[in-house]
Amino acid sequence: MNTIITGLQWGDEGKGKIVDYLTEDTDVVIRGQGGNNAGHTVIAKGTKYVLHLLPSGILWDNKINVIGNGVVCDPVGLCEEITRIEAQGISITPEKLLISERTHVVFPFHKELDAAREAALGDAKIGTTKRGIGPAYADKINRCGLRMADLLDRDFTTTTLERRITEANEVLAKFDLQTFEADDVIQEIYTAFERIRPHLANTIEVVHKAWKEGKTLLFEGAQGTLLDIDFGTYPFVTSSNTTAGGSCTGSGLPPTAIDSVIGVCKAYTTRVGAGPFPTGDEELSEYLHSLGREFGATTGRPRGCGWLDTVLLRFACMVNGVTGLAVTNVDGLDKYETLKICTGYDIDGTIHKLPPADRSFWDRAVPVYEEIDGWQSDTTGCTTYDQLPENAKAYLTRLGELCGAPIAFVGVGPDRTQTLVV
Ligand code: IMP
Repeated sequence: MNTIITGLQWGDEGKGKIVDYLTEDTDVVIRGQGGNNAGHTVIAKGTKYVLHLLPSGILWDNKINVIGNGVVCDPVGLCEEITRIEAQGISITPEKLLISERTHVVFPFHKELDAAREAALGDAKIGTTKRGIGPAYADKINRCGLRMADLLDRDFTTTTLERRITEANEVLAKFDLQTFEADDVIQEIYTAFERIRPHLANTIEVVHKAWKEGKTLLFEGAQGTLLDIDFGTYPFVTSSNTTAGGSCTGSGLPPTAIDSVIGVCKAYTTRVGAGPFPTGDEELSEYLHSLGREFGATTGRPRGCGWLDTVLLRFACMVNGVTGLAVTNVDGLDKYETLKICTGYDIDGTIHKLPPADRSFWDRAVPVYEEIDGWQSDTTGCTTYDQLPENAKAYLTRLGELCGAPIAFVGVGPDRTQTLVV
């Protein structure tokens, strides 16, 4: 049984936790897109792990973890992450972590170019994580990027980087941003590369072999559907296909290898960075922040919070082909008296059941809400779906109806044991 886990909102849905839960019965965990812009928080046996590039299966002893060809990988960031996770007692061996030779490399100047683009946009900035993701993917598409396999040829890498850094410096100088010396970049990258070099592999062969042997594969999506370069709230998106299809192009496994798609969403909605957010709600944001919830794992930024938006979720279930929903953070709504669910957008008097493509429509979208009674009791101790309060079950049932997909999992807290199977 091969499964894709995909985010249905603007990222931060709690995918790491669901992946971690499903990993027990999985042989191979694969990341197919994004980079260290992602931040997955997993709490296992009382310890908190924050993962950016490492697939969540790394926390287990007996799983293969693959950073696929569709990922953009910052070798320096990855080394820091490996060191941090190893310091928490997790061993990261070449048998356990495999990095595709085709994975594109994020260089330090990509991060500065990310900052330069944001500065150029002024008030229209995207609010990126400044991890160099957009510029690294741009180089990939422009056919001037370097892949992990290229780093094995230091002369080739040096010549290519010298040219690329000259171009990058011209842009950076215009914004008074840090410029780079090719020698320094090469030194820094190769120090990191030496640490990760034993992990390089032809991962396409590895995942195909595992598939043919009947092993169980799990694809760990990063970010969410509304940040997808094609289906998201463009241009306020990330630079990869975060939707289910990205798992296939990002790993080399064909769509015929996929058996199920678990879509992860919160029981409410959050987003970081700029861009439209029709159900955003100040009061709910303040409330959730006061509980110490909804601060970004990668940047620490407070996330904007809002009511559940089933216009977005319906669309996300469609484009991902969701076969089961995992609804996380249900406990975040425990104390609320009345909950709101957005069922449509009123745009200039017409009710839309699916999100518009035209960016100007987003600004005029007024959510149409349905109100539901809250459950006003603590769900964090529930260990089965049946133990949930009746009103919580009613809320989840309505969510499933409006999105057209069955509920498969419910999250009532950050720990591994707080994931309920429906
Ligand atoms: P970038 O991916 O750093 O280029 O940022 C583009 C947009 O995606 C910004 O709005 C970021 O806040 C958002 N973003 C990127 N990664 C994540 C994530 O893992 N969770 C939530 N938002 C993200």
